[in-house]
Amino acid sequence: METILEVTELQLSFKHGKNEHKALDGVSFKVGKGKTVGFIGPNGSGKTTTLHVLLGFIAPDSGTATLLGEDTSSASSRSRIGYLSEHPECYKYMTGREYLELTAKLFRISKAERKERIDKLLDEVELSSHAHKRIATYSRGMLQRIGLAQALVNDPELLILDEPTNGLDPLGRLKIRKLIEQLKKQGKTIFFSSHELSEIETVCDEIIMIANGRIIQQGPVAELIGDKPNLEHYFLEALQTEKERA
Ligand SMILES: Nc1ncnc2c1ncn2[C@@H]1O[C@H](COP(=O)(O)OP(=O)(O)O)[C@@H](O)[C@H]1O
Ligand SMILES: [Mg+2]
Repeated sequence: METILEVTELQLSFKHGKNEHKALDGVSFKVGKGKTVGFIGPNGSGKTTTLHVLLGFIAPDSGTATLLGEDTSSASSRSRIGYLSEHPECYKYMTGREYLELTAKLFRISKAERKERIDKLLDEVELSSHAHKRIATYSRGMLQRIGLAQALVNDPELLILDEPTNGLDPLGRLKIRKLIEQLKKQGKTIFFSSHELSEIETVCDEIIMIANGRIIQQGPVAELIGDKPNLEHYFLEALQTEKERA
């Protein structure tokens, strides 16, 4: 199977005054092309930090990260991915359409193609009737959906989403889940972090579990759950085992 994303032995410490906090302690994993992979772990376990290294926002102290076979510092691989951050920082004074226009221009998508693509995306994320409104007036769910549309503007092969359903009500979560399922059907590779274990269980082919900056489990969802009642049960047990080990 073709590997689309890979991190090897990532080490990264943050300095807090005189103290150092090891956020990543030898993180290694691979994501195969076309897979939907959930990245799960408690708060502060290193999920966002790993994604930031993958996106080239921060450099690790050691270790390597590659996207689509290229080092993450390469701009050419970044043009083929879509990213939704944990806290989407939209230009709130813009309308939804203006924001997508701006993103599409950054990717140098031609004017004719832009209109068609943005109309389609707005329809897919159910924001066509709000496209002319300022983002400042959007609900949390709408913000996440315009963020997801922004991540899709360049028709990326790989999507990296950091807790796309965090803080959403059940309907908001369902809408995002449906969108992820659609993208999966289109053959995109999706790597996303989430706290919603039931959602991960429904949508993902594989999971990667992180705790204290170390990968503690990874594999196909059904295989990991085994005879346990569900992913949540499995997750809590794996964390307990890790606590006893640490
Ligand atoms: N910019 C930063 N400066 C200092 N510490 C940070 C920074 N970013 C993250 N951390 C610390 O690194 C650890 C991992 O954080 P993070 O990757 O955001 O976790 P997660 O996304 O799993 O909740 C936490 O202890 C967090 O406080
Ligand atoms: Mg995070």
